[in-house]
Amino acid sequence: MRYAAHRQPLAEARTPVNDGATLVKMEHGCEKRATPFLKWAGGKGRLLAQYAPYFPKNYGTYYEPFCGGGAVFFHLTPGRAVLSDINPELVNVYTCVRDAVERVIALLEEHAARHNEGHYYTVRDQQPHALTPVERAARLIYLNHTCFNGLYRENASGAFNVPLGRYTNPTICDAANLRAASRALQSAETLTAPFDHVLQRARQGDLVYFDPPYVPLSTTSSFTSYSRHAFGREEQVRLRDTFAALAQRGVQVMLSNSDTPFTRDLYRDFRIITISAARAINSRAERRGKISEILVLGDEHHGIP
Ligand SMILES: C[S@@+](CC[C@H](N)C(=O)[O-])C[C@H]1O[C@@H](n2cnc3c(N)ncnc32)[C@H](O)[C@@H]1O
Repeated sequence: MRYAAHRQPLAEARTPVNDGATLVKMEHGCEKRATPFLKWAGGKGRLLAQYAPYFPKNYGTYYEPFCGGGAVFFHLTPGRAVLSDINPELVNVYTCVRDAVERVIALLEEHAARHNEGHYYTVRDQQPHALTPVERAARLIYLNHTCFNGLYRENASGAFNVPLGRYTNPTICDAANLRAASRALQSAETLTAPFDHVLQRARQGDLVYFDPPYVPLSTTSSFTSYSRHAFGREEQVRLRDTFAALAQRGVQVMLSNSDTPFTRDLYRDFRIITISAARAINSRAERRGKISEILVLGDEHHGIP
């Protein structure tokens, strides 16, 4: 089955309000541009320069349905955004940083003052449902900055189970960046939802950026589950179908994934850009270095290659 890319001019695209960073500066007299405040596996911070030519100049609402660390959101600082992820603890962090950043900062400062191995495991053992949303948000940011490699991993019953990391002096509360993130998030609706919720929402001229758990490069590198929700081949096919349906509707769609015969075949009807990325940290030096990834574009309205 071929998926025709949308070819109509985006006459109805709404006015772009994409320079939120400038807005932050003008409204608050503050130079700080927000950067992701969580360490998240697959974060796109280092790839943004290669993605930049392909972000459309004009778009309506920006959707990021695998939000994770939100690197692309903080880079674009769109005028209107919907940030979603299937992980409710993660989404709660964005909601609380948007709506109650000073309370999150106060709790993080308490965690920072008490930080040691005993405090880490006490906080890790807390049941999120017994805490207030703001306490849960501060808990996740604290654990994220002090746990091993900033990993987010849960056991079968959904409890966070990453051990303490080996940092001598971790930054637990970067108040200036959290405040800048809070300002950037004022334009964002936050939602716990599976990725395909965008099918109900996105309209012609909107922009959707998908950064799913990647297809593993080999059978030994099969880290596809960031939480209890595995993301296997069937999910990858459902995602391609969602991408295609949006493209056909005139939504501007972009998607990252690993560079494999499977992903190239899945997106063969779309424009595929090869991106050069650093290989994930590997204890064996000979396995470090560059690998390629793909960036898939849904139509020709993106920037010049
Ligand atoms: C690769 S990470 C995103 C990285 C992120 N864009 C960044 O720059 O840091 C993938 C995210 O997808 C979420 N996820 C996994 N399965 C999902 C699903 N079916 N629907 C929505 N989100 C899902 C995970 O919770 C995780 O946060």
